[in-house]
Amino acid sequence: MRLAGELAAQGFVRPAPGAIDWLPAAASDPEWQDFAQSWNRLGLDRYMADGGRYRRRRHAALAMTPDAIVRKPHQPHYQSRDYNRLNGDVQRWFDPIEDAIVDSAMMRRLLRGATDCFERAGEGDAPRLWHVELHQFRIEANAHEPGRPTPEGMHRDGVDWVLVMLIDRVNADQGVTEIRIAGRPQIDRFTLAAPGDAVLLDDHRVLHGVTPIRPIDPDRPAYRDVFVATWKEEGGG
Ligand SMILES: [Fe+2]
Repeated sequence: MRLAGELAAQGFVRPAPGAIDWLPAAASDPEWQDFAQSWNRLGLDRYMADGGRYRRRRHAALAMTPDAIVRKPHQPHYQSRDYNRLNGDVQRWFDPIEDAIVDSAMMRRLLRGATDCFERAGEGDAPRLWHVELHQFRIEANAHEPGRPTPEGMHRDGVDWVLVMLIDRVNADQGVTEIRIAGRPQIDRFTLAAPGDAVLLDDHRVLHGVTPIRPIDPDRPAYRDVFVATWKEEGGG
């Protein structure tokens, strides 16, 4: 599979829109509207150590095996300060992602396809047990306050693999994704511009961040919605 090969070679890969059968085709898939509209129902993230009130989110944790995807009891999201100097070392509770979204055919196809890609890109071929966390994010901005998608700066998530997919941008300028391969000075920059645009990351090898968003029209609200999923091998380091 070419996608997995590129991911293994480069540490990250951006699938061409419409080229991957398990990635939602946002423009034409009838399931997309229901999926994307759930981003209108996110609660405020009250844990922002910078005092910001510009991030909304929901969260879910799953166990994935070759045969099953099982939702885990709702649990806090935890990152150590090694990975998140701003909001690390805190058990952060967010509203659960709606069952209909976690259980949707689109989500299942996406998780299975991404898992397959990550397993091919990784080493070894033993059946894997993955701890998968799903995050819905909305970053809001207005003329007075930019919205910072990654207030912690360039970072790792502290997992094995990461999928980031744009759901929508409304009146939102900038929000440029930046990727740096560990040990190299240069930064790759690109913008997830259209609904469904995605990037897959090897979290061991690359750092990622996203620049602040600002309103295009300063008189109207601006936001950027993304879906982030992380994979960590259960029992892995
Ligand atoms: Fe991240």
